[in-house]
Amino acid sequence: MKFFIDTAEIEEIKQANLRGWVDGVTTNPTLIAKAGKPFFDVIKEICKEVPGKPVSAEVISLKADEMFSEGLELAKLSDNVVVKIPMCEDGMIAVKKLKAAGIRTNVTLVFSPVQALLAAKAGASMVSPFVGRLDDIGIEGMDMVSQVIQIYQNYDFDTEVLVASVRSPMHIQISAEMGADIATIPFKVMQQMTNHPLTDKGIKMFLDDWNKAQKK
Ligand code: E4P
Repeated sequence: MKFFIDTAEIEEIKQANLRGWVDGVTTNPTLIAKAGKPFFDVIKEICKEVPGKPVSAEVISLKADEMFSEGLELAKLSDNVVVKIPMCEDGMIAVKKLKAAGIRTNVTLVFSPVQALLAAKAGASMVSPFVGRLDDIGIEGMDMVSQVIQIYQNYDFDTEVLVASVRSPMHIQISAEMGADIATIPFKVMQQMTNHPLTDKGIKMFLDDWNKAQKK
């Protein structure tokens, strides 16, 4: 299972990379705005930090032709840019054209299995089901992930399932059990995944016993 980090903060990418947790990066306009630097500069800096690993950069336009041109510009920034396109009819036109131009895409803001099916048919390299935002409105987000995986297996699509809008370690555990290709994870959730109270208790107990033995 591949782990992407969902951030536009270089320091978080560096820290997660040091721990071997970064197979790619996803950004979105909200994350870029938080980083407080010009869009293209942020994407170039991230791409340099993780050479050869996919970095999703999202288009802002909503018309097919504009999304396509924006995608071409983003892809020029670095060979590891994956153009992120929102799920909509124009977006699917842009995905098909970008694929024909040899550019990888990640279809984002996917909230239903049939949207994921359409994205795969358009030729998306990755599709991002947003689980946390579905959970927020009382719909089990992980059910959609399992349905998308099933549909892609039924028809042998090679579009990768990239679980997005991750809020907790449990989203990652269930994604892994279901066999999702990728999860994009905020650094905070990666850190939460390392923790277990029995691990902390065990470390403390071992150290206490060790120190007691040294004093004897
Ligand atoms: C994915 O690529 C998105 O950037 C992200 O997962 C959105 O998550 P949110 O619902 O926490 O904003």
